[in-house]
Amino acid sequence: MEDRIAALQTEAVAAIESATDRKSLDAARVTHLGKSGGITRLSEGMRDVSKDDRPRLGKLLNELRQAVNAALEARELALATESDAAALAALDITLPGTRSETGSIHPLTHLLDKAVGIFRRLGFVLADGPDIETEWHCFDALNTPADHPARNEQDTFYLPDGRLLRTHTSSVQVRVMESQAPPVRIIAPGAAYRRDEVDATHLAQFTQMEGLYVDRQVSVADLKGTLEYFFRELFGPETEIRFRPHFFPFTEPSYEIDIRAQALGGKWMELAGCGMVDPAVFEGICQKRGDRVFDPEEVTGFAFGFGLDRLAMNLIQIPDIRMLVENDLRFLQQFPA
Ligand code: DAH
Repeated sequence: MEDRIAALQTEAVAAIESATDRKSLDAARVTHLGKSGGITRLSEGMRDVSKDDRPRLGKLLNELRQAVNAALEARELALATESDAAALAALDITLPGTRSETGSIHPLTHLLDKAVGIFRRLGFVLADGPDIETEWHCFDALNTPADHPARNEQDTFYLPDGRLLRTHTSSVQVRVMESQAPPVRIIAPGAAYRRDEVDATHLAQFTQMEGLYVDRQVSVADLKGTLEYFFRELFGPETEIRFRPHFFPFTEPSYEIDIRAQALGGKWMELAGCGMVDPAVFEGICQKRGDRVFDPEEVTGFAFGFGLDRLAMNLIQIPDIRMLVENDLRFLQQFPA
């Protein structure tokens, strides 16, 4: 028995030490310590050993078990260290790492954020409306009759159900007055759509910013002062602004605004439409609401709207409006702000 114990120890330790991977190490463990392994069988043989020999042989058997377990543990650690070292050797820490790209703000978004910030400081709040609008919100409520050229099929994207892609953000004015009571002071930036041939100065989808201010005794002076302040904050204190008489169905009187700023190339640029909300618009809102909170005898208001794309074009001096929507990284990466 003693000889068998000694032989088994030599054999087991040799097998364990020569294991070159986890799999062969596991195989050696099973062969020697498993249910039908050599050590288990020896332990079972203890039954036939005489009472006198039992303590001594039992001790030897325990030592065998301990030795085999220690060998297993040592080999396992050695194998793990080896595989770590191999993984480390395959890792070239002098290679460049994976670069994570930092995005930047689109020039149009940058301009929009700035514009919104200025109006917020003046107490305007953001308002929103759907891009898919009813004819009523886009045209009728804005005093734009059915025979107005803006409603032509050639100018507007109509859906089969009679709704349309809003041709301007002015529809948000209507939605705000339907759901709020004066005083109202909102801006509404967003997409507008026209059936335009896309070229260097036209997009079928573009970005507008609408504004509406309704309260008691709002005047043209408020309109002028507000917009002058806005454009000077946006483009610098030397910015000049002029109002030209114009016509819009939903304002009376109506103006077009030109501005001249060094930031925009120093030339007069036609920029926005604006005016005093037409009493007919207030009257239509009163009828729709069924109350008189927008009674044109009680309140007045100004409204304005302008496109941001052409403004951005002039600001960053690009020759083609399509560059704003092409998502060409070579273009966008030039605006790290
Ligand atoms: N909606 C007009 C357009 O798209 C711009 C405009 C003009 C908006 C006058 C207004 C306004 O609010 O009062 O051309």
